[in-house]
Amino acid sequence: MDLKFTSLVAGLLLSFSTIAQQVQPIVVKVNQPISSIQPTMWGIFFEDINLAADGGIYAELVKNRSFEFFKPLMGWRILKPDTTLGVLIINQSKTNPANPRFARITIADGEKSFGLSNEGFRGMGIKKGMTYHFSVLARQLEGSTLKMRLELVNPKGEVIGTANLTPESKEWKKCKVSFPATATEPKGKLNIWFEGKGSLDLDMISLFPDDTWKNRPGGLRADLVQLLADLKPGFLRFPGGCIVEGRELENRYQWKKTVGNVEDRHLIVNRWNTEFTHRQTPDYFQSFGLGFFEYFQMAEDIGAEPLPVLSCGMACQFNTAEVVPMDQLDPYVQDALDLIEFANGTADSKWGKVRSQMGHAAPFNLKMIGVGNEQWGQQYIERYEAFAKVIKSKYPEIKIVTGTGPSPDGKFFDYAAKELKRLNVDIVDEHYYANPEWFFQNATRYDNYDRNSYKIFAGEYAAQSKFTCSPDNQNNWKCALAEAAFMTGLERNAAVVNLCSYAPLFAHVDGWQWKPDLIWFDNLKSFGTTNYYVQKLFSNNKGTQVLPMLLENKPLTGQNGLYASAAFDQNSNEIILKLVNSTGKEQIAKVVLDGAKKLVTKGEIIVLKSENPDKINSLEQPTLVSPVEQELIIKGKTVNQVLAPSSFTIFRIKQIK
Ligand code: AHR
Repeated sequence: MDLKFTSLVAGLLLSFSTIAQQVQPIVVKVNQPISSIQPTMWGIFFEDINLAADGGIYAELVKNRSFEFFKPLMGWRILKPDTTLGVLIINQSKTNPANPRFARITIADGEKSFGLSNEGFRGMGIKKGMTYHFSVLARQLEGSTLKMRLELVNPKGEVIGTANLTPESKEWKKCKVSFPATATEPKGKLNIWFEGKGSLDLDMISLFPDDTWKNRPGGLRADLVQLLADLKPGFLRFPGGCIVEGRELENRYQWKKTVGNVEDRHLIVNRWNTEFTHRQTPDYFQSFGLGFFEYFQMAEDIGAEPLPVLSCGMACQFNTAEVVPMDQLDPYVQDALDLIEFANGTADSKWGKVRSQMGHAAPFNLKMIGVGNEQWGQQYIERYEAFAKVIKSKYPEIKIVTGTGPSPDGKFFDYAAKELKRLNVDIVDEHYYANPEWFFQNATRYDNYDRNSYKIFAGEYAAQSKFTCSPDNQNNWKCALAEAAFMTGLERNAAVVNLCSYAPLFAHVDGWQWKPDLIWFDNLKSFGTTNYYVQKLFSNNKGTQVLPMLLENKPLTGQNGLYASAAFDQNSNEIILKLVNSTGKEQIAKVVLDGAKKLVTKGEIIVLKSENPDKINSLEQPTLVSPVEQELIIKGKTVNQVLAPSSFTIFRIKQIK
């Protein structure tokens, strides 16, 4: 090595260690754990908003496949409008109330062909070489011989995949054909050409790619589920959010209508359809191809505890605020009991049998259930009580999640918190959508929460770069760093905070209603935001016990712009430190691991940082702000580490047994 360079390095090391000596130590009391960290600590909140389900994680490419949207041909275009009869929509609600409409295609004498084109969800993502599985429920009318020619086309109309299918049956029958695509196209369409003579009835026109999650036919988008699995989530809350409540009771989420054969699941409007004038989405419906069975299955696949949330008989209080009268609440309560049976009952119980027939004979081992979403007022408390009385008497082991409404403070919050404490409830869901400053300031929020009262589910949170519901909100680094600081407070208080989840989860770049969101995608690609990486780092570096981490005998909650938490992982025998440097300058952290046993000399640090608070990840630069791993030098029981400006750093240090 060059002599000059060697002495420069030696000089730098000397000055670094001199400065480090002057820095106040941060002391971690390794042998004095404060409390356990629940395996459920960091989880996922799934809601069908921003095309999260249809058009998102549910891999169906055909929009309005069963013609049940308010406008039956929404999403469809007629390719040969000059035919005499063409398409007729028939409603057979008396005989098939769950899926009443179907399309009758007729080609009259002398006419050559007729076509329908489906636009997909902001186009269809088509991949070169991928096999596509087309299926349809069809019946030929007497004397008819209509053939179908399928074409995947790009926006120029060029064919990038084709197949033929001729339904033969005179009764409704599922017909299928699979075919490959010859080009990659994010905005593809499906054309269906009909040739021959007569009439053909069609319903449930469907197209799925082959590469679904776990290659399940009619399944989920693998890249999106993988992003969830990578979080190693402790729980999966579903299906929302306000979607649970519905704008009116009529359109609340009813789980029983989302299980069984997909063609029998009753489509309803999505409440985010026209919620925001700035982001109208009139083609947003819920086909329930992703229904409660699939949610439970996804939770199981990704190792998360299922946390279903049910309507408590109150529609969204920001909308109609309809409530069901107390003397008509029984069916709602029964839905909760039946759901527990669906999840946990034996295969010979009524609802356990439904689960078993769907392919899951073993129980899903449900332990928690949510009653209501963002409800408030006395009407919520009395409805919760009615649910709790019945659920607890039949299933005392099931924990019930209740809520304090949409705000983390104020009169509705205070009222609910007081009442829920009086009722000795299990877990209370709190929501915080606020500016980044709020998140920094609230790193101490739970320091003084009563350890003998209910547990906290930090069920929905996200720092808002502008203001809540602003379409200009960004998933920028400033917000992510604020969330990291706040989350150190959640972790320090794991004695009372047992579950946490960012919200919302997913957003389609061309179909969103709400920003910010944890994961963004288009029809082919997806990426985790800066906020996603904060969540991932917390969840992947959870630990099993909280340790005290003190500067001058006090937790680090903003002194010198630093926020911190420490954990011990009994499984891997590691000390895990999380340090947020919220300042724009480097800082030296001198950490003393007091009471530690013998330590390795080399550990690991994982750094997430950006000096630009406005930095965001994007489809073009999906990992612009993403974790970088480095080696950590440990001297005895002390660690000196430079914390980069505006950074979130994880330290992992193994204790040698
Ligand atoms: O996360 C978006 C919405 O915010 C949820 O549906 C609701 O619970 C909250 O108001």
